[in-house]
Amino acid sequence: MRKKIVAGNWKMNLEYAEGISLFSEIVNMVKDEKKGEQIAIICAPYIHLNSLAQLGGSTVFIGAQNCHQKESGAYTGETSAKMIKSVGCEYVIIGHSERRQYFAEFDELLAEKTIIALQNGLTPLFCIGETLDERNNGSYFDVLKSQLVNGVFGLSAADFSKIVIAYEPVWAIGTGLTATSEQAQEVHAFIRKEIAEKYDQTIADDTSILYGGSCNPKNAAELFAQPDIDGGLIGGASLKSRDFVDIIKTFNS
Ligand code: PGA
Repeated sequence: MRKKIVAGNWKMNLEYAEGISLFSEIVNMVKDEKKGEQIAIICAPYIHLNSLAQLGGSTVFIGAQNCHQKESGAYTGETSAKMIKSVGCEYVIIGHSERRQYFAEFDELLAEKTIIALQNGLTPLFCIGETLDERNNGSYFDVLKSQLVNGVFGLSAADFSKIVIAYEPVWAIGTGLTATSEQAQEVHAFIRKEIAEKYDQTIADDTSILYGGSCNPKNAAELFAQPDIDGGLIGGASLKSRDFVDIIKTFNS
C-alpha cells in the first residue's frame, strides 16, 4: 500500500525562533490525529533541521530542501546528504522547479543527488513539472517523461521503490493557480503508467505521487480524492499551522 503524504516546503522563509514556534504548533495540533498510512513532513531550511528533528518525534518527519551530489569535500557553502541524515532527517526534496530554474539544476545532476540521498538513507521527494508554455503547447507529457527518464528511471527497481514523486506544474507554484483535479489526475495517472512500463505494476501501485502547486485547505480534499493523487507538497499554506494541519486532516475527513 502506498503512503499518503502531506509535506510542507518552507522554502527560504522563517528565522530560527519562528521555525521552532510554527513547528511546535503543528506538532501539537497533529499529535492526536489518527495514524495510519498517512505521513506529515516539514522540509525546512538547513538551520532548522537539527532542532525540528528533535521536536518532531514520530509525529512529523523532517526533510531538507536540497542536498549536494557528492559525499563530502571542498564544496564551500554546500550540505551533504550524510550531514542531513546525521541530524535526524528522513527526507529531502530533489529537483524542485525553483532549484531547476534559479540554480540551473538539470536532470543528470538531480539523478546524482537522488542516488547520494538514497545511499545515505534519505527518502527523496523527487519533483517534476512543466512550465506554462509546455502546458499550452501540449508538450507536457514529453517534458514530464524526460524528467522521469533522465532523473530517476536510471535507478534500480529496489531503489526506485524507496522514492516519492511530486508533480508540481511550474505554472501553479506560488501563483494561486491550482491545476484542476482533472488536470492533476491526468498527469498522475500518466506518471504511474510510465513507472509501470519502466518497472512493474506493483512498484507503480506502491509509489506515492504527490501534487504540489497552490494546494490549500479549500482545494486539498478534491485533489486528494483523485485515485492517483497520494497527497501534497505544500509551499505557502505550510507557513500557517492551521492551514497545514487542515490539509493533513483532509485525509481523515
Ligand atoms: P505553493 O508551493 O504551495 O506555494 O504553490 C508549492 C511548492 O513549491 O512546493
